[in-house]
Amino acid sequence: MCWIFAYNGQENPLPLLIEWLRNLEYRGYDSAGVFAVAADGHFFLEKAVGKVSALATKVEKNEAKNDAYITGIAHTRWATHGGVTEANSHPHKSSQDRFFVVHNGIIENYRELKDTLQKKGYVFYSETDTEVVAKLIEDMYDGDILSTFERVLAHLVGAYALAVVDREHPDTLIGAKLGSPMIVGLSPTGTFLSSDINAVSRVATEFVMLDDREIIRIEGGKYAIFSLGQEVEKNREKITDEFQTATIGNYETFTEKEIYEIPDVFKNALKWRVNFETGEIRSDTLDALGDHEIDRIEIVASGSSYFAWIVGSYWFRELAGIPCEVRISSEFLYDTFIPSNRTLYVFMSQSGETADVRESLRMVKKKWCLTFGIVNVVGSTIARMTDMWLYTHAGVEVGVASTKNIIAQLAVLITMALSLGLKRNLQVKDAREIVRHLAELPAKFELELAGARTLNPLIEKYSQYENFFYLGRNLLYGTAHECSLKLKELTYLHAECYSAGELKHGPLALVNPDMPTIVLNLKGIMRDKTASNIKEVKARNGIVLGVVTEGDDMDDLYDDRIEVPTTHPLLTPFLPLIPMWLFAVGIAKKLGKDVDKPQNLAKSVTVE
Ligand code: M6R
Repeated sequence: MCWIFAYNGQENPLPLLIEWLRNLEYRGYDSAGVFAVAADGHFFLEKAVGKVSALATKVEKNEAKNDAYITGIAHTRWATHGGVTEANSHPHKSSQDRFFVVHNGIIENYRELKDTLQKKGYVFYSETDTEVVAKLIEDMYDGDILSTFERVLAHLVGAYALAVVDREHPDTLIGAKLGSPMIVGLSPTGTFLSSDINAVSRVATEFVMLDDREIIRIEGGKYAIFSLGQEVEKNREKITDEFQTATIGNYETFTEKEIYEIPDVFKNALKWRVNFETGEIRSDTLDALGDHEIDRIEIVASGSSYFAWIVGSYWFRELAGIPCEVRISSEFLYDTFIPSNRTLYVFMSQSGETADVRESLRMVKKKWCLTFGIVNVVGSTIARMTDMWLYTHAGVEVGVASTKNIIAQLAVLITMALSLGLKRNLQVKDAREIVRHLAELPAKFELELAGARTLNPLIEKYSQYENFFYLGRNLLYGTAHECSLKLKELTYLHAECYSAGELKHGPLALVNPDMPTIVLNLKGIMRDKTASNIKEVKARNGIVLGVVTEGDDMDDLYDDRIEVPTTHPLLTPFLPLIPMWLFAVGIAKKLGKDVDKPQNLAKSVTVE
């Protein structure tokens, strides 16, 4: 997605902005740009398609980089309106090179606004919705940028985080948001605007969250926030260790590093929530949740978070006896919403900023229903909007393809299911047995990581294929989907996932020796039924890679096997993930793909 960063203060903004762009490289983007203005109004503007390093090289070659600037804005673009070209890259400007704008979000009515402006004689150089904002500011300018901006915003339909500089008032930076995130970072030398709290945490000591429809004016490094034309006081929060920064260490890619962090991530997610000595769940949030009269759970998420929820929904039904429906956020948002005050609406998101999830949450909140967030990024929009929430505490996830956070999400989900179950009919001894097995999982993850090299021959063999089936049933169905998504994202190979029982209803037509089937078939989860489905594949000369429990005796069923440790049947969804993610990473590396930044993807999807 697009990300913005802006600075006004005593430091020269250019190096700060370039450094910021480098830090956010991992989020996925296709072009970048930077603008800085000096006290006398002369300005610096560079844009480049491709990597931030291309922009940095251009900046480096530009002698004007050494001039003294006081305000700057920067942007990474993930193309929505118009192709990946320099002309479409931000910052965008008004016709007189006066107003410069960076934007994250989508202006839905930009076509009408553009038509009106074109009729007035404005000429556009890009295909973007953002250029319309720059030209609209120019058109509506009333002598005061703050009041102009306020009136411009009233014309915009859609989502935005905008930062604007007026070259005639170079010491002033203006920003506003609706939907898209915007964080105000405060340092002893100046004030930042950023889409990303972790980026702010590198440079600021405190931060303020801007709320929808608020406008910020920063002048001489000092800020004032306005709501409905009135200045408002907002809480300043300290940057704490939660807002960590990530370094790659000795790993080749962040994604691998994050997979190797999983044992610690898992422990961290449960540290304050499960007492492994007594087998008890201890969470004030979950205790408070248990006091609500809930007879149904509706769950909203996207991508990997959605697949983690498919697993979680089995746990909620099995352990807590609560009917539980999982919804894809982009579908839920435009479906008929039937509110219920006995339903808990849960929104799960690593980034806490996914637009489809955020807007679904907004829709549910309008009906005064009880909302619960499960979020990784501390202070993110979804965490702030929900009535109750739990953080997954997975730390910064740099790889665009999510890994370690999914394990943390699953850890939170099973804890939540146990907690709700114990308030209902779940027996304490059964819960304790699960907790005992949870305590053993980190050691099992370590074993899987230690066995990574055994995957090499399989990576070698399966990297020759271009199409894959992934199969799983019941508790392993969501996990199979997640494994399939990761192969697609990291290798760009075609993979489709089905419940093993669905194969015979159509997809079986595709089985042939060139399309291997990867099947998750662990002990305790309908192993014999899945075995029958595998036989259907084998009978049609399909090649089968089985992910099986260690010591599994169904030898003749698979062409190849990956063994995972034994655990409690309900915890089996955790165990195929590490080997399957390493398998996907291995194939991606073999095929020369960019593991951390897969093509066309962004780390957090802040547009619908
Ligand atoms: O930040 P979120 O969990 O809301 O993100 C949801 C999806 O966009 C995300 O899981 C996506 O599918 C990842 N690329 C998966 O690796």
